Amino acid sequence: MYTTRELQDEIIRLKKENDVCILAHAYQSHDIWEVADYVGDSYGLSVQAAKAEQKTVLMCGVRFMAETVKILSPEKKVLLSSANAGCPMAEQMDVEMISRVKQMYPDYTVVAYINTTSELKTICDVCVTSSSAVQIVKNIDNKNILFIPDCNLGRWVANQIPEKNIKLLQGGCPTHVRMSVQDVEAARAAHPNALLLVHPECLPHVSAQADYIGSTTGIMDYAKKSDADEFIIGTENSIVQHLQFECPDKRFYPLSKDCVCHNMKLTTLGDVYACVRGVGGEEITLEDEVREGAKRCIDAMLALSAAN
Ligand code: 13P
Ligand code: SF4
Repeated sequence: MYTTRELQDEIIRLKKENDVCILAHAYQSHDIWEVADYVGDSYGLSVQAAKAEQKTVLMCGVRFMAETVKILSPEKKVLLSSANAGCPMAEQMDVEMISRVKQMYPDYTVVAYINTTSELKTICDVCVTSSSAVQIVKNIDNKNILFIPDCNLGRWVANQIPEKNIKLLQGGCPTHVRMSVQDVEAARAAHPNALLLVHPECLPHVSAQADYIGSTTGIMDYAKKSDADEFIIGTENSIVQHLQFECPDKRFYPLSKDCVCHNMKLTTLGDVYACVRGVGGEEITLEDEVREGAKRCIDAMLALSAAN
């Protein structure tokens, strides 16, 4: 029987022996962060997906993230750490629905949050992530934008680019929308000197009260660099723990005890161990047509976020 530390050492040994690159989303647990080759937000993970040199890439996160790796590195074996780890928001809109909406708005550029299925990406024009959305939408030539599926992220983008005509649909992250204005009032009353840092997937009334709005990595960088000592964190609660670990002299409080993404929590260190031994996870496969169609959408994101 291994201790956590021994299991981590064994994972690190096996990933080298079996030529596996471990990518982990920032919402993964600390024991997984410690064995990963790269930890980051959705944008950082998609950049790393194209760069990995190993033959196998293990994505510790949710399904659309593993699909993004396969889309960008089709020659690699890509594993999703836990077969049941999906993103409920990614399942909210499908090809049939968005095809019908596109017929109603033929001269709109369709911008898809990366939290969408690969199939849906094939009929969209460009992907965005929370950290790249504003810059990318600004860089799109067309004034008319249909932004799917997250209306809260879309509203936050629209507020910053008033010159664009942005249409939104009613999708969103079931985890982030659990946080309410009442949670903000209670947290501010309990911690009057703390800054409120939130993810743009939060409801607009919550984001409107924030001192900073950004992606998971954005929130972490802001808290680390800030001169403030206390922070209320309005995103998945794993970020509270990661920040407390990395900044022991500062204090971090969750905006709500309910901001837990159970899909992101499915992966355990035991799953990672099984994957690097070649006996766990789900191998991602995509039909060529789907992969190529979705790649066009992700490539457009990478090109537009590099442009200024
Ligand atoms: P970021 O990784 O862009 O911060 O998004 C958070 C998220 O919900 C991922 O599913
Ligand atoms: Fe999806 Fe929300 Fe979980 Fe991110 S936090 S994976 S958007 S359900």
